[in-house]
Amino acid sequence: MAVFLSFFVCVFFVASGLFAVDAQQQLLFKDSDLDLIYELKKAEIIPTVFDEFKPLVSISVQWANASAEYGNTINPSHTQKEPKIELIGSTPSFLSNGKTPQLTVALTDPDAPSRDNPEWSEICHWLTTDVDLRKPDHDDDDGDEEDLISKAIRILNSDVMPYKPPGPPPKTGKHRYVFVALMPKNGTTDSLHLVKPDDRQHWGYKHERNGLRMWAEDMGLEVIGANFIYEQNDEQ
Ligand SMILES: *[C@@H]1O[C@H](CO)[C@@H](O)[C@H](O)[C@H]1NC(C)=O
Ligand SMILES: *[C@@H]1O[C@H](CO)[C@@H](O)[C@H](O)[C@H]1NC(C)=O
Repeated sequence: MAVFLSFFVCVFFVASGLFAVDAQQQLLFKDSDLDLIYELKKAEIIPTVFDEFKPLVSISVQWANASAEYGNTINPSHTQKEPKIELIGSTPSFLSNGKTPQLTVALTDPDAPSRDNPEWSEICHWLTTDVDLRKPDHDDDDGDEEDLISKAIRILNSDVMPYKPPGPPPKTGKHRYVFVALMPKNGTTDSLHLVKPDDRQHWGYKHERNGLRMWAEDMGLEVIGANFIYEQNDEQ
């Protein structure tokens, strides 16, 4: 009997240990803040596309046969269709009054036509908003309820700018394609009136090597998360 009991106790501890690690990796983004910022600086996305920020959400980006993994390289043939986006993260304020700020995800290319000569950059590839924030389905009973963990799943989103698949031209090397999560700087939970950029090139501004930064500034939005991939044309 004692042997049985200790067997079950062991299984219980091993199992709960596994769940704890899994939950922590998936939900406590703060543990990997430094890695994300480090990767973004290494890829020179900070400060080229945006400045250093405090990550509140991580962006999961899934195509049928590929996913964005903070700097992996994907063949353009795998990203022709709009990906499924999921925002995962925690903020103290999001759920305090049961309302959520309107979240927006952008996809921008700072390397058009090439990283060496980005005179068309940035190109706005996608702007999608009204990303819904949902409370987690599970109860994690670690008592950390004040810092509520929320899981956002894109279900009711609407496109401000439709998805244009990455299409790096021949012989232009690797392009960085950067996914950016944005929320209103003032934390409002009111609906935003986001203006569609006039053009994809330079995000409609007449400034080379600019785009997302200017649009976000004009809309009163700040960066709260990012992910990125590399793509290049087969012909180099
Ligand atoms: C994903 O890969 C499978 C197997 O190689 C293929 O049949 C399918 O067409 C691919 N889907 C897309 C969207 O590329
Ligand atoms: C908060 O920011 C949004 C987005 O820029 C703006 O529309 C709204 O008027 C601001 N609200 C307040 C109270 O400043």
